[in-house]
Amino acid sequence: MKKHDVQTIITALGGRAQLQALLGVGASAVSNYLARDELPQRAVGPVCEALRARGFSVDPTCLEIIGQSVPPAGPAPHIAPHIDPHLAKQNLAEQNLAGGPQIGGGAAASVLSDTRRSTGSARVLLIVGGGIAAYKALDVARRLQDHDIAVTGVMTGSASAFITPLSLAALTGKKTYTDLFSLTDEAEMGHIQLARQTDLVLVVPATANLMARTANGLADDLATTILLATTAPVMMAPAMNQAMWGHPATQANHTTLVARGIGMIGPDDGGMACGEEGTGRLSPTDEIVDAVVAKLAGRHKTLAGRHALVTSGPTIEPIDSVRFIANRSSGKQGHAIAAALAARGAKVTLVSGPVTLPQPPHVTHIAVESAREMMDACTAALPADIAICAAAVADWHVAGDTSGKLKKDNAGPPQIELVENPDILASLSAHKKRPQLVIGFAAEAENLRANAAAKRARKGCDWILANAVTRADGSSVFDSDSNGALLLAGNSCEDWPQMPKTALAERLADRIEAHFA
Ligand SMILES: Cc1cc2nc3c(=O)[nH]c(=O)nc-3n(C[C@H](O)[C@H](O)[C@H](O)COP(=O)(O)O)c2cc1C
Repeated sequence: MKKHDVQTIITALGGRAQLQALLGVGASAVSNYLARDELPQRAVGPVCEALRARGFSVDPTCLEIIGQSVPPAGPAPHIAPHIDPHLAKQNLAEQNLAGGPQIGGGAAASVLSDTRRSTGSARVLLIVGGGIAAYKALDVARRLQDHDIAVTGVMTGSASAFITPLSLAALTGKKTYTDLFSLTDEAEMGHIQLARQTDLVLVVPATANLMARTANGLADDLATTILLATTAPVMMAPAMNQAMWGHPATQANHTTLVARGIGMIGPDDGGMACGEEGTGRLSPTDEIVDAVVAKLAGRHKTLAGRHALVTSGPTIEPIDSVRFIANRSSGKQGHAIAAALAARGAKVTLVSGPVTLPQPPHVTHIAVESAREMMDACTAALPADIAICAAAVADWHVAGDTSGKLKKDNAGPPQIELVENPDILASLSAHKKRPQLVIGFAAEAENLRANAAAKRARKGCDWILANAVTRADGSSVFDSDSNGALLLAGNSCEDWPQMPKTALAERLADRIEAHFA
């Protein structure tokens, strides 16, 4: 059977209750038709007839609505004798809440364009965990649909103590799944299909418990079974009390999940529902939605065929065989950029100093220690279309032979002579195989914009992302999960506010994508 635009058919019929009554099936069957975007063969005749009764011209081979021959006047004609008025009312309420089209006629064209919004090209499975922030998942569901993303809701048992499946169903326009052992759902839309028929799985809020169960591979309810069975990218927005977040068990689970490629959005800092202050608040809806949109944009592989060279992390410069000079760079920003570009299809060479981060998926990772090793690895990686120098490269290294171990003796501290390191950003900018787009980072302690502009001119790179080493609240950009920056590109200077480093990476990837479009 050919695929149908089931949502459009349902809207044209006047709602899901109408289709249920027409075919004599339950709500879960209609959810299944929506998920598959296909009606059973036996539905074609009655649906075609009902649509025609409502004044639509229909192609009977595929049930495509090709126009409206007679605009229906007044109330919708009855298409079946046993429409449950409660279901019909619920359906109307759901459509109104979802901002969807109204029941009762209107031009076929407007029905089609309205439904396209909710049946968008991307699909997100939204898993809601049982935390105090569960109600915010409703707003996330609504806002994702504003971006033409179709959302299907799944709730844990605990989540149902905070919000109802009906609220989520009303906002998504689809059944909310809660039960792993529901025979109807398993017969018509099993957990494996739910896990597979999506472009992304998003967990909001990701409770400490859900993170722990996922990190340990448990599959003891529908949510965790989906998380184990899915082959789609997974993103989590954790939210919990600051002590729960800071607990070594949660931190270890977080590290495990990140290492497995799960995208983390937040958590944020600030006041909590329980009255305490700290890290653990759910990230703002905007940030969650932006991160999902950016991730889904990546699935279009817009940078396929491009080679990106990314440097990340610190360099370490030996003083002797056991001591070294290093800096506080964690590599989080550079690694996030490498991951974002790889997700968009770029071939990525990540040249990284020593970090404790997992290697991002689908990148060629070259581990180095000193600035000179990083320089050699970068030059060897050319040609490249894009170079992004996010590493915090030491300006100097220790002169002479550093192979032995310095001894403490009565002669006092050793004299250490420093020699300038090669300038990787300037070298790549001036290289005969210069990448078409060279981007540098500037970590400045003062006069951010002026110093960054001067650095760009000095180094000869195309764009520069400048961030303040110390932020207004006294925290350091190094090792933080968030970053804000000025982007100097051409004659423009954009002020990018504080956001997760992963979001900043996506934003930069957007700009790179636009540059090469
Ligand atoms: C009022 C209340 C608020 C809670 N808020 C949170 C929370 O914000 N984050 C969290 O991780 N757990 C929170 N919990 C604990 C979870 O509900 C509990 O760990 C539950 O088992 C989570 O189940 P789930 O992960 O399957 O959704 C809260 C519990 C209660 C009673």
